[in-house]
Amino acid sequence: MKHLFKQGTNAAKPVLLLLHGTGGTENDLLPLADLVDPEASVLSVRGNVLENGMPRFFRRLAEGVFDEEDLIFRTQELNDFLDEAAQKYDFDRRNIVAIGYSNGANIAASLLFHHARALKGAILHHPMVPRRGIALPDLTDTSVFIAAGKNDPMCPAKEAEDLDELLTDAGAQVKVHWEMNGHSLTRTEVDAAAEWFEIGFGK
Ligand code: MLT
Repeated sequence: MKHLFKQGTNAAKPVLLLLHGTGGTENDLLPLADLVDPEASVLSVRGNVLENGMPRFFRRLAEGVFDEEDLIFRTQELNDFLDEAAQKYDFDRRNIVAIGYSNGANIAASLLFHHARALKGAILHHPMVPRRGIALPDLTDTSVFIAAGKNDPMCPAKEAEDLDELLTDAGAQVKVHWEMNGHSLTRTEVDAAAEWFEIGFGK
């Protein structure tokens, strides 16, 4: 997958996996990684799917309606890519924390739904429930921060609430941060995510 890797100054810190929103690139979320932990290594990936020229991490049939078959395929593809990247860049495969926005948050959530140890943690900005009606793996030892908008027209509040419940039921520690700024990725939610990260992973 097209990506960039930036070696951090502290190899004990989790590798931050950056996953952009629809129409984004691997450069978009680099400022977030800096705010969350400037010492951490960064692996930033570009989605392999194009929708009218806009990169995404999986296909959708309509806004908010996912192509499940492609979602499953792309989730496996990303998980395999993480295995390869850990070898290539010599980092601990079990110590990755994803930071995703919108479509990137949805593929990060899908990694959690399909693979028990794909991620050590995840910061999900404006996510949805990637799939319904499936059994989740045991997510004990996985920490998730969800930032969501009460008035988000793209990713309704109910999606974040349901995602919280599904992940919590699977054993994950979940914290939800609410905003009233629609689908925007705001500085206040990034600051809240950074604070959450510092408590759980900063030492
Ligand atoms: C998705 O397709 O993943 C969601 O609708 C969010 C987005 O538009 O990126």
